[in-house]
Amino acid sequence: MKRRSLLTLSLTTIVAVSALASCEPPQPGQNATSSSGKKVLTMITSPEYPPYEYYDTASGERKIVGFDIDIANKIASDLGYELKINESDFNGLIPALQAKRADFVIAGMTPTPERRKNVDFSTVYYEAKNTIIAPKTSNLKTTKDLAGKTVGVQLGSIQEGDAKKIAEKVPGMKIKQLNKVPDLIQEIKAKRIDAAIVEDTVAKGFTDASTDLVFNVIPSEGPSGSAVAFPKGSPLVADFNKVLEKMKASGEIKTLAAKWFATSAPPSPSPSPSGSMSPSPSKAP
Ligand code: ARG
Repeated sequence: MKRRSLLTLSLTTIVAVSALASCEPPQPGQNATSSSGKKVLTMITSPEYPPYEYYDTASGERKIVGFDIDIANKIASDLGYELKINESDFNGLIPALQAKRADFVIAGMTPTPERRKNVDFSTVYYEAKNTIIAPKTSNLKTTKDLAGKTVGVQLGSIQEGDAKKIAEKVPGMKIKQLNKVPDLIQEIKAKRIDAAIVEDTVAKGFTDASTDLVFNVIPSEGPSGSAVAFPKGSPLVADFNKVLEKMKASGEIKTLAAKWFATSAPPSPSPSPSGSMSPSPSKAP
């Protein structure tokens, strides 16, 4: 009797699971269709990176907004897709593409030779520089100043790799990796780390919001800038590049850069010329 009910139960489970499986929406890349009849493109991002992608809570509803999101929306609509946005820690974005859990990543991601082994990239749509963020009073402005200091970086970012290269040249520099950029800022404020390496446009936003912090641009240790990432061999790369080229030629990228990167008040002036506050939208390729 017991055995029969167990059998019935497991049969029911099998039926239920396969029923569920058959209702499962098609995987990204298989062009699921939305209720509006449009094909759906699934992107994945790490929304803790203002002004590229972050949760806008000001409007009352929790919504992912930013420079990258405007670009993704424009590309999707130009190509006739509806856009679905998923999220992950930055470190999980490339694995998500490799597992085909998304059609593309837009996350201020820099195309590096290392990443190119696992994913394909669009052309670069925006250039960036690395900076040191530190308390104003600490005078940590150049990489040499980081000797003996603990420096935070986002786990899996190019800044992590760049910090490792800097640490080879700077005696006693220690590195602390964290998942989210806002956590790096918190750690500096709590004095658990001395500084963080963060890219210029993002650093500007955080230092504008915390006037006790400043940032100073440092020389680049490798590739920089942002591109869209795709699973290897994705047919979307060419389509995205066409729209990106059009957006560059029409000045639309520059307009979006001005909208997202130039809105906040400049942080208090830094005496060093390396403390350039401008994300130089004009340098966008
Ligand atoms: N550009 C850097 C990189 O590719 C950092 C990007 C971080 N993006 C983010 N959404 N947290 O590694």
